[in-house]
Amino acid sequence: MDAVKTIVFLGLLRRALAIPKFPVNENHTKINYPTDVGSGEVNIFYTGFPAYHQMVIDQGYNVTAVNISLRNEAANLVKAGFNVYVLFQGPDQPVSNIADRMAGTHWGVDAVGWGQRGAGNSDVTYRFEDNLHQYRESAPLTPTVFNWGPDTLAESVTRRVPLNEDCTDKPGRLLAYEEICDPKLCEKTTVVTNGSLEDLLKGPGA
Ligand SMILES: *[C@@H]1O[C@H](CO)[C@@H](O)[C@H](O)[C@H]1NC(C)=O
Ligand SMILES: *[C@@H]1O[C@H](CO)[C@@H](O)[C@H](O)[C@H]1NC(C)=O
Ligand SMILES: *[C@@H]1O[C@H](CO)[C@@H](O)[C@H](O)[C@H]1NC(C)=O
Ligand SMILES: *[C@@H]1O[C@H](CO)[C@@H](O)[C@H](O)[C@H]1NC(C)=O
Repeated sequence: MDAVKTIVFLGLLRRALAIPKFPVNENHTKINYPTDVGSGEVNIFYTGFPAYHQMVIDQGYNVTAVNISLRNEAANLVKAGFNVYVLFQGPDQPVSNIADRMAGTHWGVDAVGWGQRGAGNSDVTYRFEDNLHQYRESAPLTPTVFNWGPDTLAESVTRRVPLNEDCTDKPGRLLAYEEICDPKLCEKTTVVTNGSLEDLLKGPGA
């Protein structure tokens, strides 16, 4: 008897919870990775912490190695055929910087750096969420990827967006590599806006 009651109750419950269907225009609602695209056709926006930020130091990373990895990986993305804007900044900087840099460009993929999920630090978690919210506002239909270490920036994108041609002799462009950090938190920052991979890898003017 109880079993029958339960079944009847669940049936009613299911009807009560039935979700009404609205017509949707798929073109306006789907988040898709770019497909059938070639060298220089996809813009990537990457954000995360600058290597030398105090919060990265506090987490015990070898920040010298992280600095090298992040730059190599940004260059690897360019060499793989993508146009790349990197904006590295910590929670001490306004998330509106992301909105400023993203405005006016179509982004094929946006990405958030490793370590940004928190690892027990609520400030880091809040910033991770703020970054995601800003991506949703600035580029609602752009898919977001995450790397899983400082050596996987390029792979986090290339595994999702295989380009349709060999880009060995057709790199993309470095749109910018921008570290923004309070001098009290980072002893030194780099900004490369002239597209030079040489400057990115060796330091501006090297
Ligand atoms: C989506 O866009 C394509 C190309 O602009 C168009 O041919 C198609 O009819 C659109 N689909 C919907 C559901 O609006
Ligand atoms: C940190 O990384 C750099 C660059 O790879 C390396 O030269 C250095 O020995 C590392 N330091 C430590 C303490 O492991
Ligand atoms: C990170 O590496 C670049 C390129 O080698 C260098 O110019 C820069 O000074 C390094 N950052 C810091 C804070 O040492
Ligand atoms: C890029 O700009 C920096 C300074 O802003 C300069 O030192 C460097 O020579 C420039 N590199 C190229 C390749 O134009």
